[in-house]
Amino acid sequence: MEVIITKDYDEMSKEAAKIIREQIVSKPNSVLGLATGGTPIGTYKELVRMHKEEGLDFCKVVTFNLDEYIGLPPSHDQSYYYFMWENLFKHVNINPENVHVPAGIIADFEAYCNWYEEEIKKAGGIDLQLLGIGGDGHIAFNEPGSSLTSRTRIVTLFEQTRKDNARFFKSIDEVPYFAITMGVGTIMEAKKILLIANGKKKAKVVAEFIEGPITSMITASVLQLHPNCTVVLDEEAASELKYAKEYRWMYENKNRIKDFQFK
Ligand code: PGA
Repeated sequence: MEVIITKDYDEMSKEAAKIIREQIVSKPNSVLGLATGGTPIGTYKELVRMHKEEGLDFCKVVTFNLDEYIGLPPSHDQSYYYFMWENLFKHVNINPENVHVPAGIIADFEAYCNWYEEEIKKAGGIDLQLLGIGGDGHIAFNEPGSSLTSRTRIVTLFEQTRKDNARFFKSIDEVPYFAITMGVGTIMEAKKILLIANGKKKAKVVAEFIEGPITSMITASVLQLHPNCTVVLDEEAASELKYAKEYRWMYENKNRIKDFQFK
């Protein structure tokens, strides 16, 4: 796992957007896995800027979102479909046919979840998966206790997650109880993972998932087993890491390998 510690939310967002830009430039038809929540808003803002000012081209990019609330139609202003169009898709030249956000209103849950997994496979798998992390260590809506090999499915949200997300709704009563989410196993199949986290509130869980044991009680901890995972943090989110100094040192010195000469 590569850990990059930035000064603040703004720098974290710019660093994450740079990594996504590199992916799109090196493979214009990249398949991106995308996340919602408060954390990635700045990253999407920066990607929109790159599109408008630098011509970053999304015309061949394919996207799959991690999750969606069950019961919310795409037109609901708290649906993740709505979030993605508001914060990214409508501002860039993405082909709407290439966008996949799981549906929140589904007749046959099991058939739909299998179809979503198949669509990811048909697209060639996810090249780069962007993730946030919940206060309880969840990635997507894989709450503590989710199997580390789980696939796309319907889950019940923890009460704490409903409380955390109530800030986006008029009241907690409006927060759905269920969601459709990619599984931990689905996420682990992405070729590259980029997890972002900011703020003091995430510091404890960030230290736990990076430096603690791998456990389904903190589903993000399984990323320790991913061969290509980058974590971008701000100083506050990094404040409880035991090896913060070492991660910084490694990052600052990583380009030295380019000048390395065998004698
Ligand atoms: P947040 O949510 O970005 O709103 O903090 C992260 C998550 O729950 O995955």
